[in-house]
Amino acid sequence: MQIFKKKNALIHCLSLLKEKNKLIGFVPTMGALHKGHQSLVKNSIENNDVTVVSIFVNPTQFNNPDDLKKYPKTLKEDLELLENIGCDFVFIPTVEEIYAQAVVSKSYSFDGIENQMEGKFRKGHFDGVATIVQAFFEIIKPDTSYFGEKDFQQLQVVKKLTEKENIPVKVIGCPIYRENDGLAMSSRNIRLSKEQRSEAPFIYQTLKKVVGFAKTKSVKDMYEFVKNEFATTSLELEYFTIAEENTLAEVSEINFDKKNRAFIAVNIGGIRLIDNISL
Ligand code: PAJ
Repeated sequence: MQIFKKKNALIHCLSLLKEKNKLIGFVPTMGALHKGHQSLVKNSIENNDVTVVSIFVNPTQFNNPDDLKKYPKTLKEDLELLENIGCDFVFIPTVEEIYAQAVVSKSYSFDGIENQMEGKFRKGHFDGVATIVQAFFEIIKPDTSYFGEKDFQQLQVVKKLTEKENIPVKVIGCPIYRENDGLAMSSRNIRLSKEQRSEAPFIYQTLKKVVGFAKTKSVKDMYEFVKNEFATTSLELEYFTIAEENTLAEVSEINFDKKNRAFIAVNIGGIRLIDNISL
């Protein structure tokens, strides 16, 4: 496995492989890797000749400076994990290497999908995500990139980004990888105290109940149900939204001819956890 800190060295190496028509798969991450990330990397390794993983905690997508400061960093373990599963290239640039001019986002419009849910609660978040993903796509020029459905809205934003900016990269969505008790794996989970960690599976348990109700209850009743469920816990419900998958527009009634998903964000003692489920 080769580790690159400089983009020019990576660009040079990849150009030699592209001349040989090698298929390049790319998985962008912010590190503190877990089995969810691992499943994306494995998918890339299985379907490409060369897999590139980036580890970069992107400052422009954090609206909360405290969250950025406390973002877990486990580089040594991350590199071991990537080496063990057969990753080829790891790109770990510095902030200066990526944001040479200024640490700012570009400004995008994604037909409104960026304004719902995470966009509402994390102002400027998707501009930051799109800026860094576009920058990586321009450096790496992968054939295919892999994103988790864990961040479903991000996945849709990235698909829109490639459409709008005419970027010839295929974007593949990969299923949410969960702990045995159902909690969606997240780098932020290691910040949970023992007590918070034992409460967190309630998020997925509630989502599963919502799936059970989807055919019988109204959307309004499901919203009410979720709100009441969380009111009895110390988990603070930030939002619960049922939306159509492609537009991410909130629905007032479920149309089963379309794909719908329930989305949730919860705050546990300052740690934000998100999850979603297909209805
Ligand atoms: P990060 O949170 O490190 O996630 C990297 C990728 O792993 C994302 O595509 C995310 O959806 C996926 N992922 C995280 N947890 C997962 C799980 N439990 N199951 C399946 N996939 C999971 O998302 C980011 O970083 C950043 O926004 C990034 C795209 C790297 C841009 O900075």
